[in-house]
Amino acid sequence: MQTKNTFYITTPIYYPSDRLHIGHSYTTVACDALARFARMQGKEVMFLTGTDEHGQKIQDKAAAKGVPPQAYVDEIVAGIKELWKLLDISYDRFIRTTDACHIESCQKIFTRLYEQGDIYKGVYKGHYCKPCESFWTDSQLKDGKCPDCGREVYEAEEEAYFFKTGKYADRLLRLYEDNPAFIQPESRKNEMIAFIRQGLQDTCVSRTTVPWGIPVPFDQKHTMYVWVDALSNYISALGYSNSAYNDYGKFWPADLHMVGKEILRFHTILWPAMLMALDLPLPHQVFGHGWLLLEGGKMSKSKGNVVDPVVLCGRYGVDAIRYFLLREIPFGNDGVFTNEALIARINADLANDLGNLLSRTVSMVEKYFGGSLPGSEGRAAGEFDEDLIGVVSAMPAKAAAAMEQLLIPQALQEIFKAIQRANKYIDETAPWALAKQEENRPRLAAVLYNLCESLRFAAVLLAPFLPGTAPRIAAQLGLAGDNAALGYEGLAFGGVSRYTVQKGEPLFPRIDPEKELEALASAAAGPAPEKAPEAPAPAPEAAPQEHLAEITIDDFAKCEIRVARVLECEKLPESKKLLKFRLFDGERERTILSGIAKWYSPEQLVGKHVCIVANLAPRPMMKGKYVSEGMILSAEDDEGNVTVVELPQGVKPGSLLG
Ligand code: MSP
Repeated sequence: MQTKNTFYITTPIYYPSDRLHIGHSYTTVACDALARFARMQGKEVMFLTGTDEHGQKIQDKAAAKGVPPQAYVDEIVAGIKELWKLLDISYDRFIRTTDACHIESCQKIFTRLYEQGDIYKGVYKGHYCKPCESFWTDSQLKDGKCPDCGREVYEAEEEAYFFKTGKYADRLLRLYEDNPAFIQPESRKNEMIAFIRQGLQDTCVSRTTVPWGIPVPFDQKHTMYVWVDALSNYISALGYSNSAYNDYGKFWPADLHMVGKEILRFHTILWPAMLMALDLPLPHQVFGHGWLLLEGGKMSKSKGNVVDPVVLCGRYGVDAIRYFLLREIPFGNDGVFTNEALIARINADLANDLGNLLSRTVSMVEKYFGGSLPGSEGRAAGEFDEDLIGVVSAMPAKAAAAMEQLLIPQALQEIFKAIQRANKYIDETAPWALAKQEENRPRLAAVLYNLCESLRFAAVLLAPFLPGTAPRIAAQLGLAGDNAALGYEGLAFGGVSRYTVQKGEPLFPRIDPEKELEALASAAAGPAPEKAPEAPAPAPEAAPQEHLAEITIDDFAKCEIRVARVLECEKLPESKKLLKFRLFDGERERTILSGIAKWYSPEQLVGKHVCIVANLAPRPMMKGKYVSEGMILSAEDDEGNVTVVELPQGVKPGSLLG
């Protein structure tokens, strides 16, 4: 972060091709914590996010749905904004690449680069798939065929405009050398240097076959091909070359572009080269963070193994999810999302360390002092105070130092170290023992006061990370709305003269891991009405059904339902509900746990041909002892009895249903 008093931070602009998943939320939550922290430090912050709305993929998705691309993206963008609201994302501006001001800026930028010779007309060569009307590069082909439809492709050429990225190779290398912090983390810088050294090609920046894009103003049969359009958002959103905003002078150059590692190249090569060509200042830093993975690999909208942030927030609360994302994933590296790890974090850090510290402290103030602690004249210092006060007082500077280096998990670690120190202080001072003797009251008052102060520090410092929880801590400490007590500037131990507390709900109720994992497992393994095969026509007296939102054939195509032969089936000693299956899916054997033990004995199912959802993300069950690799389809009758869908033996394992 810079020492100047403005802070401009950006997320990548997301493709509104589909609903966003927890991986996208990760980037945005991280930026939100950084933006809130900078605001807390008194900086004037511009936190930009938005959507990257043009291109072939979105055009195709809209066509499949039978709606114009603009209507298609409008609906998804509305959902994205809802998601950011749910996750408490405090963005200052939301840029859409379909905004008129963005289009105006892009067209001016493109024209200028063309007029000064940095963009030129050439010929794009690639592999062309006629039915899909798409060009593919070597690496995009799948077994030499079109990655979308699997058909033959042929060599083809298309007129296109190119940006002279290659011309800027030396300047880019110098930029990295002169500004060692420009690309972070350090390890990724070497990848970029190697990429440039192997010979930097010019970048194709227009297409004649993708109408859903910004028209090249001086050659209307071309549209800008995505990256010039996308990257320009960082300045168009400030009003560069448009009159919708007037913040360019104040906020550019950006302090931090936060991006996923797979798009670091565009941000550290193409984007600075474009800015060099435009003779504009360069961003201070680009940080390429790692991916949030599922145990089976990277989550992706196209793989269908997506963890829905809305579902997670509904189940565990927004701040629990924010905390997990910010604390669990080493910033810069990949991290794995598992339900076990999420529950463990919630229980250990939020329910135990933080929640218990607050509830124990507030309860003791109520029990021993009727909710109101005496002022300084009624408090007596004693053993352990100095150490506690030292640790708590040092925490803001340590957390700020970690945030300065974008070490978000470490910043949280510093805050929780102080919280843990305060919990230890309770054990050391044993307030319940002090309460037994009247002459210890001043000491007891001081102990409880010190705990309240420690919690106040936690509330102040946690606010950027847990924006919903910090005010709840403050309210229980009787400090709601007290900006002086809750300010980061001048935060000093002993700053509140006296406390009157108000007990509230537990911050984070403890989750029973066993029950929760079982509940999640049966939700995954149990009968799922939405995946059941087509229902027969309803009888005239049938009850009205609950319908899910309409889906397109593309949505359905994401579901890989195959026939599998049950090789083995057994009861699990640890569970009354689950049966453990070993199945052959036509290609390999896999294990699936299904919550149908109540209705079947294992022998009834061995040898049967059942239907499985084969591309469901593998899910650890029974505290990780087993991993269930799919779901067996079944249906429920009126009494709630479950029948597994069975196919005749002639339908071979591996056959696809659809
Ligand atoms: N539209 C481009 C970015 C243009 S920026 C000028 C794009 N969009 S995206 O929607 O595909 O991805 C946006 C960001 O989300 C990327 O930084 C990407 O790394 C991040 N993530 C997508 N899946 C992710 C995980 N599973 N984990 C962490 N981040 C993830 O690329």
